[in-house]
Amino acid sequence: GRSPNLLLHRGFVMIQGTHLPQEVDQIQDLDLRDSDVFVATYPKSGTIWLQHILLLLQSKGDVDLMSNKDKLSNGDLVPWIEVNGQIQEFATAESPRFRVTHLPFHLMPTALSRKKGKVIYVARNPKDILVSFYYFHKLATMLETPRSFDDFFEKFIKGEVMGGRWFEHIKSWFSHKDDINMLFITYEEMILDLTSVIKRIADFVDTELTQDQLQNVVKHSTFKNMRKIPQANYEQVPGDLLDHHEGTFMRKGTIGDWKNHFTVAQSEKFDEIFKQEMKDFPVSFIWD
Ligand code: PPS
Repeated sequence: GRSPNLLLHRGFVMIQGTHLPQEVDQIQDLDLRDSDVFVATYPKSGTIWLQHILLLLQSKGDVDLMSNKDKLSNGDLVPWIEVNGQIQEFATAESPRFRVTHLPFHLMPTALSRKKGKVIYVARNPKDILVSFYYFHKLATMLETPRSFDDFFEKFIKGEVMGGRWFEHIKSWFSHKDDINMLFITYEEMILDLTSVIKRIADFVDTELTQDQLQNVVKHSTFKNMRKIPQANYEQVPGDLLDHHEGTFMRKGTIGDWKNHFTVAQSEKFDEIFKQEMKDFPVSFIWD
């Protein structure tokens, strides 16, 4: 990517042009319906995976009936609530409204705390997030290409990246998990046992599935299969947003790729900060 256009707004590091402060400020006052579902993630934690699973649950595992079958990407059908122009669209959209967000809890609709709507929070081990985000910065033209991995490592730790500091994001949501209707899942659980996580998601969003339908949802949500789907790869997104020759959105899809990138010193430094930051938050991750 080429442009260094980040903006810090009320604790959220946004992309100028993609996000407008005055629109983000209106999100808190949105009216919610019980059937609304938000997927909350720090970037690179499995957003596209959940967009895809929600669309598949809606079609009961039938890819031919999936609403992304034509030109629309997962991101068009399950949009980010904070992106420019989305809140107006949200107010009048038909139920069920599925949305994703990278916002911290305090910028989300206050109606969530009155137990209106539901949130699926997807967490991922932050070392793998860092690596995934590093590559995404090369791919996405709205994000500045890192000078080096070492440089990006420092930026990530300081939170000088879109989405802000990972530690703040997870703590912001985790500390409100009992105040709202929230399902907390991890990327690693999904890798290790996709069927059981999809069952939990289906229950949470009140979707009943037969065994066959469940198996189809699982089958079409694997990395191997999603990677082949243009809609899940943002292939139709124009070259002025993604430099498609820099790589694919569905990049590697594994646990532990950080080991191929972090030095021992970086890993130790990260562990130290993690221990300190997360000492009061009983969230555990699978790191490899
Ligand atoms: S974004 O830009 O914030 O919307 O990115 P996000 O979708 O949250 O994260 C992208 C990473 O998730 C991986 N991914 C998957 N891994 C395993 N299985 C499936 N089905 C799957 N779908 C998406 C994707 O490959 C990115 O991770 P990396 O580590 O870069 O491969």
